[in-house]
Amino acid sequence: MPLIVNGTSVPLPEDPRVSLLDLLRETLHLTGTKKGCNQGACGACTVLVGDERILSCLALAVQFDGQEITTIEGIGTLAELHPLQQAFVEHDGFQCGYCTPGQICSAIAMVAEARAGVPSHVSEDLSLDNFPLSHDELRERMSGNLCRCGAHNGIIAAIQATYAVEQQQESGIVEAAE
Ligand code: FES
Ligand code: FES
Repeated sequence: MPLIVNGTSVPLPEDPRVSLLDLLRETLHLTGTKKGCNQGACGACTVLVGDERILSCLALAVQFDGQEITTIEGIGTLAELHPLQQAFVEHDGFQCGYCTPGQICSAIAMVAEARAGVPSHVSEDLSLDNFPLSHDELRERMSGNLCRCGAHNGIIAAIQATYAVEQQQESGIVEAAE
């Protein structure tokens, strides 16, 4: 079966040793996904498999036979940015931008994890089924995505602006804007 990348069927590579990252960048020319360390330490290569975030440098493309992969090219367009992309612009969430595609893919899945009741290392009450996106939770949950420019404060601010207020509105802590 093929891979589905951003909604398009893509044949599996003949060489089973090809990483998902190299398939995306070298074969499909989807260069939004970045190669930083190529050894699982920086998060620049983060993409989504279904709703989950993975490091594409550590994954073989053939592992994802028949599965749906979303890269940054499938998340928003210049004409229509995803709300999180817009928030990165408004909150200075990047400088060189090299880590940004990975940060955005990671944050989208991270929010889904918190909302599904997956605790982090700093979660105090493990019984929650929807973890609040506090500053400390976001710092911890995004700690696998490094930013060499030091834009971490802007990145956390952008994620909070996009999702934490929304989460508070859902739980009735703050009222939804008209
Ligand atoms: Fe994959 Fe750094 S390039 S984690
Ligand atoms: Fe430059 Fe993050 S914006 S590495």
